[in-house]
Amino acid sequence: MTKPVNGFSKLNKTEKINWLSENYLDNSAAAVSVLKQYWNDDNDLQKLHDEFIENTVSNFYLPLGLAPNFLINGKYHVLPMAIEESSVVAAASKAAKFWNIRGGFKATVINNKKIGQVHFLFQGDFSKLDKLVTKIEPKLRESVKPITRNMEKRGGGILNINLIDKTEELENYYQLFVNFDTRDSMGANFINSCLEKFAEVLEAEAKSNPVFTEEEKNLEVIMSILSNYVPECTVRAEVSCPVNELSEDSTISGEEFAKKFIQAVRIAEIEPYRAVTHNKGVMNGIDAVVLATGNDFRAVEAGVHAYASRNGKYSSLTHATIEDEIFKFWMEVPLALGTVGGLTSLHPLVKLALDILQRPSAKELMEITAVAGLAQNFAALRSLITTGIQQGHMKMHLMNILNQNQATEEEKEEMVEFFTHHTITHSSVIEQLEKMRS
Ligand code: MEV
Repeated sequence: MTKPVNGFSKLNKTEKINWLSENYLDNSAAAVSVLKQYWNDDNDLQKLHDEFIENTVSNFYLPLGLAPNFLINGKYHVLPMAIEESSVVAAASKAAKFWNIRGGFKATVINNKKIGQVHFLFQGDFSKLDKLVTKIEPKLRESVKPITRNMEKRGGGILNINLIDKTEELENYYQLFVNFDTRDSMGANFINSCLEKFAEVLEAEAKSNPVFTEEEKNLEVIMSILSNYVPECTVRAEVSCPVNELSEDSTISGEEFAKKFIQAVRIAEIEPYRAVTHNKGVMNGIDAVVLATGNDFRAVEAGVHAYASRNGKYSSLTHATIEDEIFKFWMEVPLALGTVGGLTSLHPLVKLALDILQRPSAKELMEITAVAGLAQNFAALRSLITTGIQQGHMKMHLMNILNQNQATEEEKEEMVEFFTHHTITHSSVIEQLEKMRS
């Protein structure tokens, strides 16, 4: 058993690695050299990455891929995608190509409100509390002026502040429920700073309110924090085309394809086990763009899945219909994204990803990201209802298996050729590789 370490964050990087090596890696020089292998030669760049978090010992790479030919609202885009799963970028590119000759994707931001809450306890007369909150609203707004000034110059700021009575669900529990417009920033720090100020003012005003009883004066703030559930920060992405244009070859007619596709979506609408996997496919596209553009994928994931359960049962994010011989496939999702602030001006690859997207506004990035999710779901369902998912998946995964087995470039070439005509499984690849090597 190793002993707990004190003052770990005060050690320098080499000392941290030495401690790790001595205590957890059997003093393995090979393990340490793996960590060091990922250090960047450019010291400034490395320092920048070291300082993103505490106790950095190395960098963790993910591939950055490009999915070209995305026609969105009449304009072509190349999507930068950061993801490790072999088939995702290939699937996105395929879906983009499929739809760009069928009118492309349409996307619109529906609304763009962010939410924050001051959660507090109050014991006493609700009408007196209500009066106090109404009376101090100008004071609350004034108290955050130094924080909101710049945001207001950009057209954003605090939209409204409401008092919510939650005492039916939890004794003495109330909220200040605040809506924000954070323009092109995701706005987490802005929102949290405003909320903490509101909390301070609220407690002080309660304490000095002459009409409050002693008990009422003891209004107690529990916490102040933004919500990652943003059902009023949503975007719609859709594609449509005549049913008979859905077919690409003679294996399946457009009508058969549309019917089977819609059935697959219906299953995800009513069956939570399937809906989770279905939506995971949507998130393959969304997360990859969210990560590449330096946004908070945990926040997006949390918000999207909560939205998928908003009617009390977890369900599909996407929907499909045929009306008047027109196939329509769409999705509405909440996406709180930013194109300024945070990592966007700090991480060189994030900056580049935003350049690749032609410096979008937050709203444009919401549209592009939603399209990536819809495209990914389209590609997954298309495979699932026709060839099955494994054909494309294993084709992409072949390279991983070959790399795991240290295949040379010549071996890789031969194996790729061989497996264009044979079924790929982990064991069939190993078997063929061994055969070739012997
Ligand atoms: C795999 O990452 C995603 C899929 O499972 C999505 C789906 O089943 O729709 C293929």
